[in-house]
Amino acid sequence: MSATSPPSPLHGATAIVTGAAVGLGAAFARALGEAGTHLVLCDVRLELAASVAELDDLGVAVVGVPGDVSLPQDVQRVVEAARARFGGVDVLVNNAAVFRASPPTGPWAKGLDDFEAVVGVNLRGPSCSGGR
Ligand SMILES: NC(=O)c1ccc[n+]([C@@H]2O[C@H](COP(=O)([O-])OP(=O)(O)OC[C@H]3O[C@@H](n4cnc5c(N)ncnc54)[C@H](O)[C@@H]3O)[C@@H](O)[C@H]2O)c1
Repeated sequence: MSATSPPSPLHGATAIVTGAAVGLGAAFARALGEAGTHLVLCDVRLELAASVAELDDLGVAVVGVPGDVSLPQDVQRVVEAARARFGGVDVLVNNAAVFRASPPTGPWAKGLDDFEAVVGVNLRGPSCSGGR
């Protein structure tokens, strides 16, 4: 940022990033952290702790909340962590998602299980997060 650039609206804002342990979610979190955004990161994977530690080492204000975005009570904990630590939420990055390949000729039980996983994480998750 040059001396004449206006401050980024992300500086000092608070963002929740779901699925932030690896991949694009971790990259979104890092980019936001570098812009001065306060972060609450959520994931089901244990690697979340490493992602949080890395950002913490960079001086980013960051909290990690292990949790499953398909579970309303876990989403509630994530939002409560944002409120408790940073006073609210300004940005929501609904990044967590799963992909399950389920051909029509495959086992029915697997198809149902895949359907529940995809709907739970990819649809109910963003809906829960947006509603809180
Ligand atoms: N990578 C691509 O080329 C690409 C292309 C189009 C869209 N996307 C979308 O971008 C997003 C991230 O992609 P990616 O490649 O980094 O995926 P990824 O599978 O590498 O990472 C997804 C993250 O979400 C987490 N996650 C999964 N289920 C969760 C749950 N129930 N609760 C909390 N966290 C959960 C995983 O543990 C993982 O850390 C996804 O929404 C994906 O659909 C990716």
